[in-house]
Amino acid sequence: MAATGSAVGLGNIWGFPTQTANNGGAAFVLMYVAFVCVLAYPALMAELVIGRHTRRNMVNALPSVAAKPLVKSIGSFAGLCGVIVSSLILAFYAIVAGWMMANILSSPASALGLPAYSSWLADFSVSRNLIFCLLFSILTASVVANGVRDGIERWSTRLMPTLILLIILLTSYVLTQEGAVRGLKVYLLPDFTHIFSPQLLISAMGQAFFSLSLGVGTMLIYGSYIREDENLPLVGALVAMADTGVALLAGLLIIPAMFVALAQGVQIYDINNALIAGPGLILQVLPLLFNSLGLAGMAIAVIFFSLMVIAALTSSISMLEVPVAFASEHFQLSRSKATWITGAIIFANSACIVFYFDFLFDAVVDITTKYSQPLLAAVLCIFAGWVLHRDRLLNEIRSGYNNVEFSWFWKIWPVYIRFVCPLLIIVLFIQSILTRLTA
Ligand code: PFF
Repeated sequence: MAATGSAVGLGNIWGFPTQTANNGGAAFVLMYVAFVCVLAYPALMAELVIGRHTRRNMVNALPSVAAKPLVKSIGSFAGLCGVIVSSLILAFYAIVAGWMMANILSSPASALGLPAYSSWLADFSVSRNLIFCLLFSILTASVVANGVRDGIERWSTRLMPTLILLIILLTSYVLTQEGAVRGLKVYLLPDFTHIFSPQLLISAMGQAFFSLSLGVGTMLIYGSYIREDENLPLVGALVAMADTGVALLAGLLIIPAMFVALAQGVQIYDINNALIAGPGLILQVLPLLFNSLGLAGMAIAVIFFSLMVIAALTSSISMLEVPVAFASEHFQLSRSKATWITGAIIFANSACIVFYFDFLFDAVVDITTKYSQPLLAAVLCIFAGWVLHRDRLLNEIRSGYNNVEFSWFWKIWPVYIRFVCPLLIIVLFIQSILTRLTA
């Protein structure tokens, strides 16, 4: 439940639908699902297996499986990069989650006759961004400070089912509204002309790694907390399926909602005649749609943005766990001290991004999610495939899955993480850099 909570987040409800809208609708959905199966699931398994085998945090886990000094150093370096990337992702994620928190209060404030507060809550400003990012960061740190069982597990178990129920309720409402069918067509009928464009491929790959929280050590840490008798391939498959299911469901909500908004007279295309994407989608189009629905719209807005905050929280706690586990194990700090110190450092980074937003926000998002996550995931696959080797892998997976050596999983997966995943990631990576350079 906690790993699913980490995977399901703003990436599913905000990132996936906007990327889909940006990249030609159903063609992106197809490639995304393909990447989850052929790349992200094997990489997720690599992280879970390394985590449970070593029972350590990201920085100490990789060198502990290596024998040669050089490989050990590469492992420590990749681990440290994971801690930094996870912290940077949290730094921008907490800002977006803060926007969602502010938007919960915006419609009620306007209904209570406080238009000035309502627009302060809804509009982009340094003060609003900073205050709500701080509130969200405190919320995240208080859960993590309470530990794995009483904090992370308890809250993920409560919040995840609530989240899925809320999405289903909202989707059923939106699909009955005028305009929804047009949105459904954009979402479900692929335009094959763009399907192999490098931009679409790199976006779909980045989105798959981001959505499954891969490369930065969250899944490795959660793997290190999994019991010996759990069936790892099954746990991984359930997490990947739940995550993809929620993303597909969120697409079913957001894309039709955009066309319902269009039917209400809301502008959903930008000046280039492309669907509005990025922050604009959820923070401009949807509130306008909610406003046009009167009192029911206000209730829906509150439910929707609460849903976003819930989704963000179960993910942000997993990101914070990466530096916290490292700090508490490496510097022998108490969990609570490690949490508040790393939380404060990450908030300082968020504050820098808020102050230099135009310059930093997109750059941090791109560097961490599009490039660092897939590359670090490739390193993790290489460690699982080449450094850990078949015997140790087999022993690890066998506990919890008795006859794994006779399964399809064992026939395919070891080859995958040794060759297919690292090669595919590197090829797509180089291709995307080349297209950027020539663009
Ligand atoms: N998987 C999360 C989402 O889809 O929103 C984002 C995420 C969580 C990324 C944890 C990275 C991470 F380590």
